Amino acid sequence: MRMRFQDKVIIITGAAQGIGEVYARGLAAEGASVIVADLNAELGEQVAEKIRADGGEASFVTVDVSSPESTAALAIAAVSTYGGIDGLINNAAIYGAMKFDLLISVDWDYYQQFMAVNLNGALLMTRAVYPHLQQRGGGSIVNQSSTAAYLYSGFYGLAKVGINGLTQQLAHELGGMNIRVNAIAPGPTDTEATRIQAGEAAKELVKGLALKRLGTPTDMLGAAKFLLSDDASWVTGQVLAVDGGQTFRL
Ligand code: NAI
Repeated sequence: MRMRFQDKVIIITGAAQGIGEVYARGLAAEGASVIVADLNAELGEQVAEKIRADGGEASFVTVDVSSPESTAALAIAAVSTYGGIDGLINNAAIYGAMKFDLLISVDWDYYQQFMAVNLNGALLMTRAVYPHLQQRGGGSIVNQSSTAAYLYSGFYGLAKVGINGLTQQLAHELGGMNIRVNAIAPGPTDTEATRIQAGEAAKELVKGLALKRLGTPTDMLGAAKFLLSDDASWVTGQVLAVDGGQTFRL
């Protein structure tokens, strides 16, 4: 039986662990050739190896999403390995090891580096990849936002507000090339990074959700597969909250 993502080449940034790893494994399980792209080469190589051991197709490529040179090199590596690119998930972010500080006092160099990764990284990756999607007749880009965009959460939330805006703007710039751009806004999701960030506070957060549990990376995977697939062929510029009912917008 033909699998949903057979013959599709999909890059997932920040795929060395957490939600990105589950995206890479889940897409490979449905036939995609996946590029596991991350700054962390040790963990990233392990993810690609695990996928291959399970019978999937995966390659690891080191990337720093805040660098124009590095993102361009990643796109070239993907094309030279698999012959083209059909999809991109902009999932990489500084999250687990993020500093706690206020917008009015955060160290300026740290803030600029944070935005370079958590906001501009998605734009740089898109700039590097879109000509290759166009060459295949179109494609799908999924940006990883957060419900933090709708809540008070300082510069982390501000970067995610930017991701939502980028999603809407790029949907228009790329729509004429049949490239769709959407975002997923996860609510609090059980990853190692969340355990470091939120710790015991995560239990309190859960009380405020309509569905009384943390999200799992697998909850996000279903949304990502939908947005990457032809089932979403007339869906673009949207931010899909996968958050157990944490937020709502009218
Ligand atoms: P994580 O910290 O486990 O994974 C992030 C990955 O990004 C890491 O492997 C890290 O090495 C990589 N990375 C960081 N800077 C990079 C750079 N400059 N270039 C390339 N790779 C880089 O985080 P987690 O929990 O899996 O989250 C993944 C995404 O989901 C992030 O965008 C995060 O903001 C978002 N998110 C997570 C939520 C959660 O509760 N876990 C909730 C809402 C959104």
